[in-house]
Amino acid sequence: MSAYLSIRNVAKTYGRSIALNRIEMDVCRGEFLALLGPSGSGKTTLLRILSGLLDADHGEITLEGRNISRTPAWERDIGLVFQNYALFPHMDVRTNVGFGLEMRRIRGSEAARRIDEALDTVSMLEFGSRMPSELSGGQQQRIAIARAIAIKPRLLLLDEPLSNLDAVLRQSVRVELRELHDRTGLTTIMVTHDQVEALTLSDRVALMECGEVLQIGSPEDLYQRPASAFAASFLGSPPANLLPVTPVGVPGEFKIGEMPWKPAGSVAEILARLTHPANIALRPETLSLSENHLPGSIPGKLKAVEYMGGERLAHVEIFDEGGPIVLVRTAAEIPEPGTKVFVVPTVITGLYDTENGFEVCRLD
Ligand SMILES: Nc1ncnc2c1ncn2[C@@H]1O[C@H](COP(=O)(O)OP(=O)(O)OP(=O)(O)O)[C@@H](O)[C@H]1O
Ligand SMILES: [Mg+2]
Repeated sequence: MSAYLSIRNVAKTYGRSIALNRIEMDVCRGEFLALLGPSGSGKTTLLRILSGLLDADHGEITLEGRNISRTPAWERDIGLVFQNYALFPHMDVRTNVGFGLEMRRIRGSEAARRIDEALDTVSMLEFGSRMPSELSGGQQQRIAIARAIAIKPRLLLLDEPLSNLDAVLRQSVRVELRELHDRTGLTTIMVTHDQVEALTLSDRVALMECGEVLQIGSPEDLYQRPASAFAASFLGSPPANLLPVTPVGVPGEFKIGEMPWKPAGSVAEILARLTHPANIALRPETLSLSENHLPGSIPGKLKAVEYMGGERLAHVEIFDEGGPIVLVRTAAEIPEPGTKVFVVPTVITGLYDTENGFEVCRLD
């Protein structure tokens, strides 16, 4: 079966700087995909190219089997919501929501019906005659979404739609957004640099860095099996610890940096595959602390403890003064800062090449 939306070899440069480097991506009908990545990774550029507001240098975009690469924006039937693309301040809510319909010369009772439907979808039907200035931030955002869906788009594109909402509102609009998606079945691509948003909302996440899609998969895939050191150190709060591990030539014995370490259990089994130095990813929530030297544990000193409500985040300086800091997230009791502790690893999340950051081997 062919993809609903297919992006082939799409590239964009600004002068000498590469904003997008040969993007290849397929999106299924009805899917909710998040584009996640740090600032400047090309997320907005890709969205603008999909919407037709920006031309790619080359590449091809097909939507429902039709090549739309050269189709003007207004003929693509794509709904767009921007982070800062506010409502038109001088128009009331209904006029705002009807804007895209007006552009398509849909007027009269058909327009009224579509506006009602869109407002109803975002639970804002009774706000039709208000002006944008008479709405809260979250309500304005919902109207912006209503405006995008009123045209019955074939694709809904959202660029950081929640980023100027406060934490509480953000969470509730986030839930609403997913409900809206499930109700309407709209194929949705949402840009975010908030990993919680990406992981909780989407069916799949495309992780971008420096104009490339580094990994695309379900939230579980990306979290449990990050395909690169970048992915491991980007996802998770806090993200995975990365430690440089070198086999010393004696089976079962390694160095972390310059210090000797003898892993145990399943960690030792996985590391047995290692023939060259690598960075290993250890998620803070998979580590525990012990005041005794347990097999496979790494000695250190507790530097600081952050209270996170329910859980604590321990900063452990491993080996000596000035050694690497390892973060451990735990609900268990933690001794006082300054105490000697042992970090006990039980799970390895990834093994990455020290040069290129990609996986040394797949851990499945
Ligand atoms: N009009 C432009 N002229 C020159 N360079 C641009 C232009 N627009 C974007 N860029 C560059 O392209 C790259 C990708 O930008 P883009 O806006 O797509 O990033 P982003 O992932 O959306 O980042 P953010 O999370 O900060 O919104 C950046 O390096 C940016 O500086
Ligand atoms: Mg952006």
